[in-house]
Amino acid sequence: MKIYTPIKTYAAKKWNLSGLQGISDATLEMHFGLYEGYVKNVNLLNERLSELRSAGKAAGSDPAYAELVRRLGFEYNGMRLHEYYFDNMVREPHETGNGRLYNVLGESYGGFDEWKKDFMAVGGMRGIGWVIAYCDTTNGQITNHWISDHENGNLAGFVPIVVMDVWEHAFIKDYKPAEKAKYIEAFFANLDWKACESRLS
Ligand SMILES: [Fe+2]
Repeated sequence: MKIYTPIKTYAAKKWNLSGLQGISDATLEMHFGLYEGYVKNVNLLNERLSELRSAGKAAGSDPAYAELVRRLGFEYNGMRLHEYYFDNMVREPHETGNGRLYNVLGESYGGFDEWKKDFMAVGGMRGIGWVIAYCDTTNGQITNHWISDHENGNLAGFVPIVVMDVWEHAFIKDYKPAEKAKYIEAFFANLDWKACESRLS
């Protein structure tokens, strides 16, 4: 008799971010819809894989099974990174010029402004993906990283502290394709510094 293991399903979160600076409500509405698609696809993939396992059809040599497994990284990260992103934006942000996170970033980059300049430089890279200031929990150091798509470049065991979406859908309703720098400025104008700081252990 096969043992059927039910897979937990995820529910899409909701945010009230209407009225951000430089990021329109229309962009947010579209973006929330895309995020909900990732949540839906995580649940569908898990359900399908569970069915295959319980039917005794889970085999790495089966291209259909293998492709479903491969997609998990894309969909899971697409879901979770959007949650980090929307969670680290707020309508009336606190000042960023002090506090523990400010100091840790300064230690890693020789000053907060240097960290911010580097984070923005990573955001200017060509391609679609994410910029993430990740904390290495083994030594407390924070470093900036580029993530291609949703799943290529994430660091095992590191904690995302500041998460910025730089897929074109994040700004194309508000800015021209060549104006990504303006979107990045807008992202910082809405950055919820307290939320980022709370991610430090
Ligand atoms: Fe996105």
